[in-house]
Amino acid sequence: MIELAPSILSADCARLGEHAQAAVEGGATVLHVDIMDGHFVPNLTIGPPVVASLRKVTQVPLDCHLMIERPDEFIPAFAEAGVTWISVHQEACVHLDRTLRLITFHGCRSGVVINPATPVHTLDEVLPLVHHVLVMSVNPGFGGQAFIPSSLEKIKLLSQIRHSRGLNFRIEVDGGVHYDTVADIVRAGAEILVAGSAIFEHGSPRESACKLLRSARAAANESVQDLSSVGGGR
Ligand code: DX5
Ligand code: ZN
Repeated sequence: MIELAPSILSADCARLGEHAQAAVEGGATVLHVDIMDGHFVPNLTIGPPVVASLRKVTQVPLDCHLMIERPDEFIPAFAEAGVTWISVHQEACVHLDRTLRLITFHGCRSGVVINPATPVHTLDEVLPLVHHVLVMSVNPGFGGQAFIPSSLEKIKLLSQIRHSRGLNFRIEVDGGVHYDTVADIVRAGAEILVAGSAIFEHGSPRESACKLLRSARAAANESVQDLSSVGGGR
């Protein structure tokens, strides 16, 4: 199932609850929360207290994307604040297996993230452990950047690996997801679509979420029809 996960990075922080609720009314079923430490990425965002406030205003899963060094030290606080999913960067974790198990230990679904320059095969050993794999389709740190097209091949490869190994992780994509890129992204095999500027920077978040999700689901349905017309399917 295609799901939309608006990134609150691009929301108006003074109206965070209102913006988050509007995106959910527009069809978003997950909210993506970007955590940046000024070290792993050249930007700073929010910490557990803001996440705890957001938790009070919505029931949907909070998808916490940790762009921080030493994530093990902060996983307990984010779990306590009420996040549902926590993803960590492969590039930030020396002991990635341990960190993913720590996330599960604290009652959250674990995810692993790869930057545009990181090959999919660096995840071979941990794919059976994770709930989702997040493919960064921009270099992390800022909203509003252009989608990096080579990410599509990484999404396709993950989809093939999942099928050939009989695994269940979900495929999420983050960065540059807009009306002009979403169809290719969905056709490549991404299921959870993170979108910040497309949802919060122009017009009503409710209408933008509804429109982007409609485009994504239309592309997904076309793909299914294409496959059935050649006798394929999954
Ligand atoms: C970037 C963040 C993204 C960001 C995406 O480092 O991880 O979640 O909000 O923003 P857009 O959708 O504007 O590319
Ligand atoms: Zn993100």
